[in-house]
Amino acid sequence: MARKRMLFSFLLLFSILLTACSAKTPGVDSPEFDQAQSEFIEELNIENIYASLNELTKNPRVAGTSSEMRAAAFLTVQLKAEGYEVAVQPFDFERYVIPESQSLTVEGFAGPLSPAPFQYSVDGNVDGQLVDAGYGLKKDYKKIDVKGKIALVAVDKTAFSELVLLASEVGAKAILLYFPDELEIDKWTLGKEHFKEFIPALALTYDDGTKLVELVKNGSPVNAAVKIKGARIDKVASQNLIVTKHPTLEVNDDIILIGAHYDSVDEAPGASDNASGTAVVLELARMFKAVPTNKEIRFLFFGAEEEGLHGSEKYVSALTKDEIKRSAAMFNLDMVGSADAGDLAIQTIDGADNTVTKAASKANEALNGDPIETDFGDRSDHTPFHNAGIDAALFIYDPVEEWYHTPEDTIEKLSKDRLVNVAKIVGTSVFELTFSGMIEE
Ligand code: BES
Ligand code: ZN
Repeated sequence: MARKRMLFSFLLLFSILLTACSAKTPGVDSPEFDQAQSEFIEELNIENIYASLNELTKNPRVAGTSSEMRAAAFLTVQLKAEGYEVAVQPFDFERYVIPESQSLTVEGFAGPLSPAPFQYSVDGNVDGQLVDAGYGLKKDYKKIDVKGKIALVAVDKTAFSELVLLASEVGAKAILLYFPDELEIDKWTLGKEHFKEFIPALALTYDDGTKLVELVKNGSPVNAAVKIKGARIDKVASQNLIVTKHPTLEVNDDIILIGAHYDSVDEAPGASDNASGTAVVLELARMFKAVPTNKEIRFLFFGAEEEGLHGSEKYVSALTKDEIKRSAAMFNLDMVGSADAGDLAIQTIDGADNTVTKAASKANEALNGDPIETDFGDRSDHTPFHNAGIDAALFIYDPVEEWYHTPEDTIEKLSKDRLVNVAKIVGTSVFELTFSGMIEE
C-alpha cells in the first residue's frame, strides 16, 4: 500500500515538473517582452512628476526640520495611495552648530582682528599670555612653555586638528592658527573625530598672524583673550522611507534598489537637488506597482544626504548580510532634471562598469541610440552601497548647473525631457532586470 502511494506521488511530481518545463515563458529577447516593456514605459506620466515637484519645492527640505518631515509625509501619502506599505526608518545624526560669536583681543595691538572659527571649534573663554609657537609641531614646543597660555601657530602642512591636539597636549589653553594666503576658508575644518579633545581654536589671516608674531617678539609678555560662544553639536533626527515590492514569482532572490535623497540644503528649494530624483523614483514606484516581477524591488527615499550621506549610511548599516548578498543593483537618482547641466552621466565609485551601468547603457542605446560611458563620481548616496559591495551607480546631469545649492535651484529650471529621459532609462533597466516572463493580458 505504502509503495503504491509512493509511486503515485512520484508520478504526480513528475507530471507537475513536465508541465512546468513545457509552459514556455517568454524571455527578454521575445516580442512579448518588447511589447510588455514598451507598454510599461508608456505608463510614465510627466504630470505626476511635476505634481510631486510642485509640492516638494515649496520649501527647502533641510534635514531634521519640519519641512523635511513634511516632504516625507507627502511621499508616504502618495505611496500609500498606490497601495504600498511604507516603512519609516528613523535615525539620528550629529550636526555642528557654528558659534554665534567669537573674538580675540590682544593687549597692545591697536588694529582690528577678525578671527574666524573652524568647523568644530569648541566654545571657550580663555585669558593668557600669547606665545609664538612656530609651526606648532612637537619640536617647536620643546623650546617654549605654553602651559596655560595661548599658542600662535603658522600652518604649514600639518592637519589643523593635529595642531590643535598637539597644543592641547602641551597644556595650551587656546590656539590661534594663521595660514599662507592660498588656503581657502571653506576648507577650515578640524573634523569632528576629536571634538571632545579640542581646546578653543580660531583662524587668523596670514597678515594678522605675522603682525602678532612681531608684537610677541618685541619683548615684554603680551596677554590676549579668546572667546568662542555658542558652538555645539546638536543631535538631529531624520528618516528614510522604504517601500518594498515583493516579487510576483519566487524565481530569484535578488533585490533591485532604486533610491533618491529628498532633503535639500538650507535656503534652496532643491528642485534639481534633489526633488528631481525623488519625484522620478516616486513615479517609477507607481509604474511598477502592477507589474509582475521576478525580483524584489525596493524604492528608497533617503533623508539627510546633504549633511554627509546619513540616510543611505543608515539604510546600508541596517541591512543584514543576507540582504547585502541579495542586493544585485542600486540605482541612485540625484539631480536628474536640470535644463542647464551637462549630459547625462552614470557615475560609479571606482569608475568601473557594473550591473547598473551595463543595464542603463543598454537601455540608453535602445532609447537614444548610444551607450553611455561610465564616469567616476562619489558625491551621493550610491557610496555606502558600493562600500558594502553592492553594484551601485549615480544618475546625474553633469557638470551640474551653476546655481547648484542656491535659492535659484527652482522648478522652472528643470527640463521635462530630461526628467522623462532618466525615468525611461532607469525604468527600462529595472524592467529588464526584474522581468518575470509573466505577461499581463
Ligand atoms: N547632488 C549632490 C551631488 C553632486 C553635486 C554630485 C555636484 C556631483 C556634482 C549632493 O546632494 C551633494 O551635494 N553632495 C555633497 C556631498 C555629501 C557627502 C555632503 C557634495 O558633493 O558636496
Ligand atoms: Zn543631491
